[in-house]
Amino acid sequence: MPVDPTGAAGSATPNVAAYLATLDTADWWRHAVFYQIYPKSFADGNGDGIGDLIGARERLDHLVELGVDAIWLSPFYKSPMADGGYDVADPTDVDPMFGTLADFDALVEAAHARGIKVTVDIVPNHFSDQHAWFQQALAAAPGSPERNRFIFLDGRGPDGSQPPNNWPSMFGGPAWTRVPDGQWYLHIFAPEQPDVNWDNPEIPAEFERVLRFWLERGADGFRVDVAHSMAKPAGLPDMDLEDYVPHTQLDVDHRFDNDGVHEHLRMFRRVIDSYPNRMAVGEAWVPDDKRLAMYVRGDELHLTFNFRLVEADWSALDLRKAIDGSLSAMAEVGAPCTWVLSNHDVVRHTTRYGGGALGRSRGRAAALLQLALPGAAYVYNGDELGLENVELPDDVLQDPTWERSGHTDRGRDGERVPMPWAGNEPPFGFGSSDSSWLPMPSEWAGMTVAAEQLDPNSTLSLYENALRLRRELTDLQGSGLTWLDSPEDCLVFRRGTAFTLMLNAGDTPVELPAGEVLLSSADLIGGELPGNSAAWLRGTDRVA
Ligand code: NOJ
Repeated sequence: MPVDPTGAAGSATPNVAAYLATLDTADWWRHAVFYQIYPKSFADGNGDGIGDLIGARERLDHLVELGVDAIWLSPFYKSPMADGGYDVADPTDVDPMFGTLADFDALVEAAHARGIKVTVDIVPNHFSDQHAWFQQALAAAPGSPERNRFIFLDGRGPDGSQPPNNWPSMFGGPAWTRVPDGQWYLHIFAPEQPDVNWDNPEIPAEFERVLRFWLERGADGFRVDVAHSMAKPAGLPDMDLEDYVPHTQLDVDHRFDNDGVHEHLRMFRRVIDSYPNRMAVGEAWVPDDKRLAMYVRGDELHLTFNFRLVEADWSALDLRKAIDGSLSAMAEVGAPCTWVLSNHDVVRHTTRYGGGALGRSRGRAAALLQLALPGAAYVYNGDELGLENVELPDDVLQDPTWERSGHTDRGRDGERVPMPWAGNEPPFGFGSSDSSWLPMPSEWAGMTVAAEQLDPNSTLSLYENALRLRRELTDLQGSGLTWLDSPEDCLVFRRGTAFTLMLNAGDTPVELPAGEVLLSSADLIGGELPGNSAAWLRGTDRVA
C-alpha cells in the first residue's frame, strides 16, 4: 500500500535526475531494473494474436510509467519456433512473425527517446536445425569442415546404432539424433537445436559478427543464453544419471560450467566493451555461488542472473541464505548481484509461493525484497500485474518439453500466457485479434494494466511506487546491506543510513522497526506488518 509515494510519475526530483544521469555512464547496468519482454506474449501489433516488435513499441509508455531502465527482448530472430525462438535459424534477421529489422530499429529509437535501453538475447550454444550451416552440415560428409561446426560423432556399438554417450536432452529423450549416413549430432536441448562446436574458430568468429551486428544497430547489451554451456567436457564422458532429475537445470550436470567457457566469455566482453556503455548478462544455472561469480570477473560478463531467489522457499531463513551466499560471492569479484523472481522458464513466483491470495501477498512482498536489494533486478512481463501461471489445456501446449517428456512435464507455457492490457474479456486488448496464441483466463479481467492503473492498491501501483522510490532514495543506490536483528520468520536489513526493509515471511503480524513507512505490500494491522508482506521504511533504529 503506498503510504508516501515520492512525487508523481514523470516528475524528476534532483535525486531522480541524478539517478537518470547514471544511466548514461559505463556502469549503468550495476543497479538497473531490466524488464523482460517475451515478444510473443507482450503485445500484438499486427492483429494475428501473437506479440511482436510493433506491439512492443506501441506499449513502451507502460514501461515508462512503470519506471524501468532497460528492456531485455527474448529472441525475435528468424526461427521455426521449435523452442519459442531459442532455435535461431538466422541470428541477424527478424522472424516475420515478429516483424522486420526496420521494426527493430523503430523500437530501439522509440525506447531510447524515452530513456529506456534495449538489450537483446544471444543464443551461443546452438542454432536451429534450419540454420544454413546445419543444412550444409547435413548435406556434407562425416569429417567435413561443414560438420565440424557442430558436434557430429559416430555411435557406439558394433554398428554405431547407440548414441555416442548417455546424455539426456534437457527437454527429455536422448541428447543425440542420428542422421541418414549413421552419424549422430549433439543437441543438449531439442533435436531442432544442434549444439555448435566452440572449439572450431569459425564459431567464435560468427558470434563476434552477430554481437557487432546488434551493437551497430543500437542494442545496449545482451542476455547470453545458457552462458555456461559453450565448452563441453573433454571426451564427452557419460553422465552419472542416478541422481539426475530430467528437465531441470538446477542440478550439477557436468555438461555445463566447464572452465573453457570463460575464454569464450572474454571474447564477448572484448567485443562489447569496444562500444560505449554496453553490457551483457549471463544465464548460467550454476549452483555454486563462487563458481557463478567467475562469470562476472572484470574481463567476462557484466552481470549474471542470480537464480537463488527463484530456488528459495518462502522462509526467512532460505531467503536470507540465498541473499547472503550471492552477495558475498559477487563482492569477491566486485560484481553486483542480479536478482530474478520469474522469467519465461520458471513457474511465476506468485504461483510458486502458493497461488491465490496467499501467493499474491507473498509475491508482492518478494517484489519489495527484490527491488530493495543492492544490484540489478529483472522483472518479467506480467510480474508487475501479479500474474500467476495458467493451467492450460493439453491441446494448446507448445513447449517441446510436453511432447519430449511423453506428456509427463507440461513445460513452460503456463508462464508464457500473453499480457492482459485492458477490457473485460480475453484477450484483454492484447491485440486486435479476438484470440491470443495461448488462451488467457477470464479471471484476469481485474488484473489488466488498465484495471490495475486505476487501483492505488494494485500490484502495478506497488511496482510503480517501488521503482519511483528506488530512483529517488540514494540509500538504495549503494552496494551492500546490513542485517538488523529481526523477529522470528522475518528479515530486516538496512541500506545506506536510513532505508530499512522488513519482510515478514510468517503468518502473524509483527511490530515494525521505528521509522516512517514509505511503502508496504499490504495494509498494516494496528500499525503492525501482517504476515506474508513487506515494508520499506525511512528510519535508523534497530529492531529490538
Ligand atoms: C534458456 C532459455 O531461457 C530457454 O527458454 C531455452 O529453452 C533454453 N535456454 C535453450 O535455448
